[in-house]
Parts: sequence; structure tokens; C-alpha cells
Amino acid sequence: MKIIDGKALAATLRAELKDKIENSNIQPGLAVVIVGNDPASRIYVRNKIKACGEIGIRSFSYELPETATQKEVEDLLDALAEKDEIHGILLQLPLPKGLDSEAAMAHIPFEKDVDGFSAENLGLLTLHKEKVVACTPLGIMKILENEGVDLCGKHAVVIGRSDTVGKPMAMLLLNANATVTVCHSKTVDLKAICRTADVLVSAVGKAKFVTADMVKEGAVVIDVGMNRDEDGKLCGDVDFENVKEKTSCITPVPGGVGPMTITMLMYNTCITAFKE
Ligand code: GUN
Repeated sequence: MKIIDGKALAATLRAELKDKIENSNIQPGLAVVIVGNDPASRIYVRNKIKACGEIGIRSFSYELPETATQKEVEDLLDALAEKDEIHGILLQLPLPKGLDSEAAMAHIPFEKDVDGFSAENLGLLTLHKEKVVACTPLGIMKILENEGVDLCGKHAVVIGRSDTVGKPMAMLLLNANATVTVCHSKTVDLKAICRTADVLVSAVGKAKFVTADMVKEGAVVIDVGMNRDEDGKLCGDVDFENVKEKTSCITPVPGGVGPMTITMLMYNTCITAFKE
């Protein structure tokens, strides 16, 4: 059994991006927009801005109050869309209640969609003509590649069908020739399906959701969860201590998928800046 070091892989990839930026005559610029006071979102945004600075991406941070209107959010995104020094725009989700995130995100032009959430980028992914791919699923593919996991013909099970993680994850695995099952809250006999997974990706958001009896001997387990356990400690979706021994490799929380998500945001910002 191996515990995957997402932090180490992230550091390697960030060093490569830093080199690339230093050797380019364009300085990539990323605008990060946060609306309201969600404490978790504030931490995520702070980490994203810090990571930008470390590798030479210029970051522009915009904070709107909890009381911001739909029009105020959309007007800001329209203004950022016009700025040449900004190559990528990220609207931190979730937005405060009452705001329509889908309508707001439609104000981020496809060329500056570093989250890969736009209809265009999702469509390209579905057609296996990927351009900018959602950061968390892309980071997971880099982890699997780095571990030498051969996906061809394997059964990959994704728990969770969100537009931001589950759906793009399933599509990437399918494009890599895995046989993919997507499970969700209405799935009948989730446990039995998970037990047949060669690769199990959990994006549920519930502590200790994936238990040892749901995991096949030798499976690869990827944990996207960011939860708090009963003692308030950060933990993933997987009952790590009991599951790890059954796996061939497993990502921990923290230190697994999380650092890769931010790294892929940097990677995507370089794609939009360098028009790759
Ligand atoms: N909130 C949590 N994760 C993400 C993400 O990857 N992108 C955006 N825009 N918001 C998020």
C-alpha cells in the first residue's frame, strides 16, 4: 500500500510552470472574485492567490459583499473580461444565497474560463477535444498518471455527479478508456458497485462515507472530500485508517488531491495566457 503524496507532485509541477513563466515574455494574470464571507471559500481564495505569487502569475483579487446583487457580480465579470492583462477569471463558488451562479459564470468568456466550467469547455471534454479541464478532476488524472495507473479497460467508479467534479471526472476516465460508473444519492446498492471498482473516486462531502467493506482488495482510492470529523479535524470522504490497508494506493486528506487542484488552476491559467 502506498500513500500518495499530492503535495510533492504539486511542487514538481509548480516548479515546471514557474520555469515556463520565467522563460516567457507574457506574464499570466488571474483574477479571483469572491462574493460574501464564506470562511472556507476565503481560505481557498487565499491559497490560490499565494500559489500564483510563488510561480510568477500576477493575481488580481476582487471582493464583493454578501449583499452584492446579481448585476454587480456580472458587471464586475464583464469589466474583467475586457482587461488584456487578465488571462483567467475565477468566480469562487458557492455564491451567497439568492445569486445565480450559472447566470453569473456565463459572463466569463470561454477564453478566460480557467475553471473549465463553461458549456464550451465541458463540450470539448465530452468530445475528447479537451482544452481547459476542471481543476480537481484534471489534478486526479495527473496523480493517476504519475502513479502509473493503467486505466484502459479498468472499472472506474465515481461517487458524486456534480458539474464541477463528478461529471468531468467521469468523462476524463472514459476518455482514458476506463469503463466508468457514476454513482449518486439515488444509486441502488452503492456498496456492491464500489466493491467492483479498480479505481474508486469519492466526491461526496461526507466524513467516513467510504468504508473498508466498499473497497476491493488492491483498488486505487482517490478522496476528493474536504470535511470535518467529530473532533473538528480535517478529513476526506474515506475512512482512511481502515480503508488504506486494502488499497494499492490511496490519497490522504489533507495532502492528496487538494494541492493538485490549486496547481491545475495555475496550469489552466498558463493555457489561457499562452493560448496553448
Ligand atoms: N469552490 C470550490 N472549489 C472550486 C473550484 O474549483 N472553482 C471555483 N470557481 N469555485 C470553487
